[in-house]
Amino acid sequence: MTEEHVKPVVAIIGAGPAGLFGANSLVEQGVRVVLLNRDIKPGGLAEYGIYYDKYSIKEGLRKQFRKILASPDITYYGNVRVAEDGDVTLAELRQMGFAAIIVAVGAQETKWLGLPGEDLRGVYHSKSLMYHYNDLPPYSEQEFAIGKRVAVIGVGNTMADIAHWLTRDVQVDEIIGVARRGPAEVKFTRQEIEYIARNFDLEALDAEIARVADRVRAVGQDPDEAKSFLLSALSRKAWDPISTTRIYFRFLSSPKRILGNTEGGVAGLEVDDTELILHPDGETRPRRLDTQHVLDVDTVIFCIGDRVSSRFGLPVQWNEFVKSDTPRYPVDGESYEVFDPEANAPIEGIFVAGWARKASKGQVGLARKDAYNCVEAVMRYIGDSPVYDAEAGEKLDARLAQLHKPLVRKDDWRRLEAIEQQKAAELGVELFKFKSNAEMLAAMGLA
Ligand SMILES: Cc1cc2nc3c(=O)[nH]c(=O)nc-3n(C[C@H](O)[C@H](O)[C@H](O)COP(=O)(O)OP(=O)(O)OC[C@H]3O[C@@H](n4cnc5c(N)ncnc54)[C@H](O)[C@@H]3O)c2cc1C
Ligand SMILES: NC(=O)c1ccc[n+]([C@@H]2O[C@H](COP(=O)([O-])OP(=O)(O)OC[C@H]3O[C@@H](n4cnc5c(N)ncnc54)[C@H](OP(=O)(O)O)[C@@H]3O)[C@@H](O)[C@H]2O)c1
Repeated sequence: MTEEHVKPVVAIIGAGPAGLFGANSLVEQGVRVVLLNRDIKPGGLAEYGIYYDKYSIKEGLRKQFRKILASPDITYYGNVRVAEDGDVTLAELRQMGFAAIIVAVGAQETKWLGLPGEDLRGVYHSKSLMYHYNDLPPYSEQEFAIGKRVAVIGVGNTMADIAHWLTRDVQVDEIIGVARRGPAEVKFTRQEIEYIARNFDLEALDAEIARVADRVRAVGQDPDEAKSFLLSALSRKAWDPISTTRIYFRFLSSPKRILGNTEGGVAGLEVDDTELILHPDGETRPRRLDTQHVLDVDTVIFCIGDRVSSRFGLPVQWNEFVKSDTPRYPVDGESYEVFDPEANAPIEGIFVAGWARKASKGQVGLARKDAYNCVEAVMRYIGDSPVYDAEAGEKLDARLAQLHKPLVRKDDWRRLEAIEQQKAAELGVELFKFKSNAEMLAAMGLA
């Protein structure tokens, strides 16, 4: 048996930032890794979430991912979905004898509020739109009917990205950012609203802050400071408005129902006014009041975060896979071990990292740190339970060879990258992406 074969083999499911940085860390510690990825290309939301024209940030990340994947100790299988209804199940992988399995599949389902009218035409989740404008199949090929007046629910960085797209690409007439809390508790950063701040309706912003000022002051928040923060985005770096889109905010408003018209489209968004309650832990909670208001919109977009997939094959509670409350391998006090509430026991050898561990939490830097921490937990686990099958990787390879679909390996993906780069050069554009899996597979000669 060669030295190669005695290395433990860890399977990582998901080749987004968490899976890739985790793979790198494992390899540095003498572990072989097999990476299974649903998408043809690696990168996850770094490829398909980060705003499409942040070319240098995205290319910087791609460079790091290329370097990681150059390791001979990492085997990449793209176009493979692990799920109860997928190409291979987690239960099958568990039987192959990997030293551990890291689940780094991100948070693939969407969070909704369960409001009447969520099924109307013109109601979307930010995830579908972000995948659409970032060219992830099949969303890349779908049509989204966006009207003229759009309510965007939630005021985080995802809202800022969606408003950026609506303002600069779709060029709608009006966007209303709807927040259940006040202006002092927006979650977006100044940097992310610099793309759209010059489209703010400043008179309306003044009036809106004045409208909620008393309720905000009642919990010790300063409405003027909150306004200064919003206006600080009109800095030197703020982008010129290229459209006449006007951006408004509606604070202290919790969505109640989406009103429909006779054609099955959106006729408005009804919101309850809210007040803020200060809890002993210092946090505020929004509480609905008895008064309502209808926002005159024809499109509603939810930007309130995501949830993990319920079809992955792990127990889910709220928006996340269930983790052990009393982890055997905590890192920084956090649990990376998946827990089965029915058996009341950890699920042996299964760890979670990145957005699969904490849905919609943080940027790429946090996913990287989370992956490193997860690997620390995994290495301690492997040290304690060194029972694994050195042939696990070969067993997986044999199983995947039975699939009736093309597997995408590192060389295929490199070929695809080269072809897309050449197309971009020919077209004189910064970036070219094929819009469907069929086109990508054909380009790689795998169709
Ligand atoms: C709209 C938006 C914009 C963002 N912009 C920025 C930004 O500008 N800068 C920044 O730093 N961060 C940004 N982020 C955050 C950043 O993208 C995330 O922090 C990071 O991508 C999370 O990494 P992850 O690996 O945990 O999950 P993901 O990036 O979601 O990766 C998950 C991977 O798992 C694969 N997968 C999913 N399901 C399966 C399955 N069943 N079987 C096999 N594989 C599967 C997917 O193909 C994907 O490759 C943004 C996020 C969003 C939503
Ligand atoms: N350009 C970028 O860098 C970029 C872009 C997108 C995302 N990201 C990152 O990805 C992560 C997720 O971002 P995100 O914007 O999706 O999430 P987020 O920052 O958590 O913001 C979610 C927004 O939705 C609201 N919300 C949540 N649940 C709600 C409910 N039940 N009813 C009404 N409103 C509700 C939240 O309000 P409350 O505050 O009241 O809960 C908040 O305003 C963040 O770490 C973000 O920085 C980064």
